Amino acid sequence: MTHDIALVPGDGIGPEVMADAIPLVERVAAAHGVDLAFTEYDWGSERYLETGAMAPEGFLGMLADHDAILLGAVGHPEVPDHVSLHGLLLPIRKRFDQSVCRRPSILFDGVESPLRGYDGGDIDFVVYRENTEGEYADVGGREHVGHAHEVAVQSAVFTRRGTERVVRAAFEAAADREGRLTSVTKSNAQAHSMPFWDEIVREVGAEYPEVSVESLLVDAAAMDLVRRPDAFDVIVASNLFGDVLTDIGAEVTGSMGLAPSANVDPGGEHPSMFEPVHGSAPDIAGDGVANPLATVLSASMLLAHRGEAVGDADASAAGETLWGAVEDQLADSSAPRTPDLGGDAGTASVLADLRDRV
Ligand code: NAI
Ligand code: MG
Repeated sequence: MTHDIALVPGDGIGPEVMADAIPLVERVAAAHGVDLAFTEYDWGSERYLETGAMAPEGFLGMLADHDAILLGAVGHPEVPDHVSLHGLLLPIRKRFDQSVCRRPSILFDGVESPLRGYDGGDIDFVVYRENTEGEYADVGGREHVGHAHEVAVQSAVFTRRGTERVVRAAFEAAADREGRLTSVTKSNAQAHSMPFWDEIVREVGAEYPEVSVESLLVDAAAMDLVRRPDAFDVIVASNLFGDVLTDIGAEVTGSMGLAPSANVDPGGEHPSMFEPVHGSAPDIAGDGVANPLATVLSASMLLAHRGEAVGDADASAAGETLWGAVEDQLADSSAPRTPDLGGDAGTASVLADLRDRV
């Protein structure tokens, strides 16, 4: 079966990693009889610096007909981050109703956590982050600009539909996993949106009596992700909280360079987008040492998603092969590793080694 994939390498380490990772992904797919037809779009900050726009007019329309999107990273030291984010990434998530962001945090065998006393497999949780509204809603403004009394207002938006969608997806995941859900809020301080969130968790939870629900305030959750990361199974959180907590999740499981994500339209109407959790890493961009595994794992999630969406067992199997090769490599102490994992290998040699394992 053919899957038509939009490829947006983006900025910094994004294109660097993608250039070597895509041939591997194509190879694994082909070995399973899956044809991945990539269409590459060179959108991003370089384009912004040349033309004043991150992507051409109508770029969302160009993406709409693809089956899925694979994205590298977006962000450039010379472009304000709110410009790059609002010019490319956030419009994609919103336009394509990708309201559920799924981010697994797994301490793989052979990877060292910066926390003492955890071995491979000890930490394994998944964060469901609301992805199209909440604190990242584009609602607000500036008044009295230039005056001493200038003011900025930024409003958070929580809809019943958006909240319910992510909460339901999280309950479904918990029911399939160990049956434990942690809902993260700040209901003591944000007395409108967060009690609303809590209500929806209770309502949806009534349909999942087999799932136990724990509620944590976000500051306590940040602490507990460091103190007892092995105790979590599924976490559900708002856009901002999920964003912050998944960086902690990536670090306690070894590296930002290992954390993949899926931005999913649960309605299945629009293309979903798969991308590493990390950004464009300008501090190491161009050095050829970026860890490509977060991108490979994201491609694996894309294949699994396509497999499920259209009943293509071969795509699911290709996704499993990729994931398994990463596990295999990480568990092998003689395999090349990038510096973020304590090694001295480059991106290309990690991918070359991975190719020998698929
Ligand atoms: P970052 O994730 O790019 O980097 C944070 C740290 O992790 C850096 O020290 C970096 O070298 C390291 N790191 C990240 N990915 C790595 C990899 N694959 N291998 C090895 N080390 C890796 O976050 P930062 O520095 O806060 O942001 C840089 C730019 O990326 C900014 O412009 C920001 O707005 C953007 N950004 C974009 C995201 C996206 O495209 N989804 C997400 C986060 C940030
Ligand atoms: Mg983030």
